[in-house]
Amino acid sequence: MTQTFGTAAVIGAGTIGLSWTALFAAHGLTVRVSDPRPDLGDALVQALDAFAPHLAAQGLDTTDLVDRVHVVSDVTEAVADADVVQENGPERIEFKKDLFAQLVRGAPAHALLLSSSSAIPATAFTGDLDDASRVLIGHPFNPPHLMPLVEVVPGERTSEDAVQSAVAFYATMGRAPVVLRKEIPGFVGNRLQNALSREAVYLVQQGVVTPEDLDAVMKNSLGIRWAAVGPFLGSHLGGGPGGYRHLTEHIGVSMQQMQLGQPSSDPAVRELVVEAVEKAYAALPYELLAEIADRRELAVLAALKTAHRNEKEN
Ligand SMILES: NC(=O)c1ccc[n+]([C@@H]2O[C@H](COP(=O)([O-])OP(=O)(O)OC[C@H]3O[C@@H](n4cnc5c(N)ncnc54)[C@H](O)[C@@H]3O)[C@@H](O)[C@H]2O)c1
Repeated sequence: MTQTFGTAAVIGAGTIGLSWTALFAAHGLTVRVSDPRPDLGDALVQALDAFAPHLAAQGLDTTDLVDRVHVVSDVTEAVADADVVQENGPERIEFKKDLFAQLVRGAPAHALLLSSSSAIPATAFTGDLDDASRVLIGHPFNPPHLMPLVEVVPGERTSEDAVQSAVAFYATMGRAPVVLRKEIPGFVGNRLQNALSREAVYLVQQGVVTPEDLDAVMKNSLGIRWAAVGPFLGSHLGGGPGGYRHLTEHIGVSMQQMQLGQPSSDPAVRELVVEAVEKAYAALPYELLAEIADRRELAVLAALKTAHRNEKEN
């Protein structure tokens, strides 16, 4: 399978597809975009404009972004000369089944066929394909032009060649691909997020903490630590010179005895949490909150990049 990626097809240009488009174009790829939305051209121009500063902050050249992005009339035209296809359509098995059958027929034999799917594993929509060897999941975190992680998840019939090629592709796009060796609902990132979100909702429902204070706890402790070292290295360091082994035998015992909460599924109780979150963040409009979040995330990424560079030099 080729390791050269000159032309990408982006199928589905909603939240995720627009962001991938900007990232691929900023890395010099020709990008052909297909989506039946009537405002596709305008949405692309707006997205490229809005994302350009984020891409520039990552050191990418954004001068000719628009020239590298082409609106096409359908999927067949999008994939005809693609080296890689990134699918970002609706999260429905039937849609992905039909679409990937079309992609296998229409894309060149060397093209890598990737799906952004967050919940549907490749095996669930490739069963009817004669050749599913180059189909796999490349699951980003939103927005993919900013968040480094891509979970690369092969299906049962995906070749190892395609897995390695996907890893090479996302690394070329400046992302941090991680290969999952088994399909599991929610993959890894969303499972972790889900576990934490459940406990967060439980703590608010119990009146232990408000939503803003819960956010403050995370931003001022685990968020910083986990961005720097991740949970396992964090625990290894937390155990002192005895490392992770000492931690599991010592504090780990009482941690294991702690029962985690089960948030109430009563609609009235759930509504109270929704209202509390809405009230907590009502002062600023959504667009401004999103802009602030992007700016802070870029600052974290830039700081980590500097730290990694210094580690290499020292
Ligand atoms: N939003 C997220 O946070 C997120 C994160 C990671 C992965 N994903 C995954 O990415 C995929 C897209 O999600 P999204 O949030 O961008 O959804 P979205 O609803 O914003 O975009 C989906 C797009 O697909 C288009 N579409 C519909 N039929 C199509 C067709 N036949 N051909 C081409 N395009 C078609 C729609 O017009 C729409 O623009 C999903 O599989 C989702 O699970 C989403």
